[in-house]
Amino acid sequence: MKLKRLIAFSCFCGFAQIIFAQKETIIKPNELWPDDKGNHIQAHGGGIIKLGKTYYWYGEERAQGLDSNYRYVSCYASKDLMNWTFKGDVVKMSDPDSMGAKWILERPKVFYNKKTKKYVMYMHIDSKNYKTAQVAIAVCDKPDGRFKYVKRFRPLGHESRDIGQFIDDDGTPYLVFEDRPFGFRIATLSADYMNVEKEVCLIPAHMEGGAIVHYKGLYYSIGSALTGWKANPNKYATAKSLSGPWSEFKDIAPPETNTYGGQSTMLLKVEGTKGTTVIFLADVWKPKTQWDSRYIWMPLEIGDGKLWVPEPKPWTIDVKTGENKLVEALNVGQN
Ligand code: DGJ
Repeated sequence: MKLKRLIAFSCFCGFAQIIFAQKETIIKPNELWPDDKGNHIQAHGGGIIKLGKTYYWYGEERAQGLDSNYRYVSCYASKDLMNWTFKGDVVKMSDPDSMGAKWILERPKVFYNKKTKKYVMYMHIDSKNYKTAQVAIAVCDKPDGRFKYVKRFRPLGHESRDIGQFIDDDGTPYLVFEDRPFGFRIATLSADYMNVEKEVCLIPAHMEGGAIVHYKGLYYSIGSALTGWKANPNKYATAKSLSGPWSEFKDIAPPETNTYGGQSTMLLKVEGTKGTTVIFLADVWKPKTQWDSRYIWMPLEIGDGKLWVPEPKPWTIDVKTGENKLVEALNVGQN
């Protein structure tokens, strides 16, 4: 009898998980973020693109129990930025060409090329201890199919570690990459996106986790200091043109909080019928338990050359109207 009840209860739990998994209405910074199957989202150091009405989130898959001979990139899809469906690992790659054990794949970003109809993934690829400093490219015909490795190289001959992705309002794609001896570089891609073509700017600041957004006529770039997995005070600069001149870098949050424990990875602009929300996407790394690394997503206070990440708190977004609200503001007056 007891066993029957246990089985019935387990079935109910599984069923409830499926039903309720689609019901996220709140983004909770720094907490576990369940996907449609109830598993914590594994899309670290990620990048998001919007195709039609669907957002695709690609990132480092660092779940427990993966085969250590491979590196994995996950893909999740969402229509509301809160409920994410796991579409599988779109990259499962073994050492591409003699990079050696402990080779590294980080910060994948996917660009969709409308002309070639190809999805082109850029990744930071490296050998042990980050000695090689290259990007790799993999390609697919679908956003959520298995991407095929193509090549690895140093963009424009420069060292490249952390990469960032920026797509301007006119659709032009840019790769942001950290060239340690010099700073961070912004470069255009070739027409087929299979190469880094031309440097637009070198920002002579030693920063990684580079992210850019174009908001109301100004470009804002964010980066973090070079402190490995440890959080530090991330900073931002502004410019009227991507080619600069860029302003000096200023804090994006109270420096003593070390960006609330997060490291920048992307700035996502959500434009709707009533307004625009720019989201700061950050990773909260847990180097010893990488699978448990968290995300801080917060709507930015941004405009007129100023940018500020408010203290992380639960919030919600309406991607149709572009509006966001803190949960505590929604609860005012309710008891
Ligand atoms: C900081 C980078 O931003 C991460 O992507 C990762 O490369 C760590 N450094 C490794 O220490």
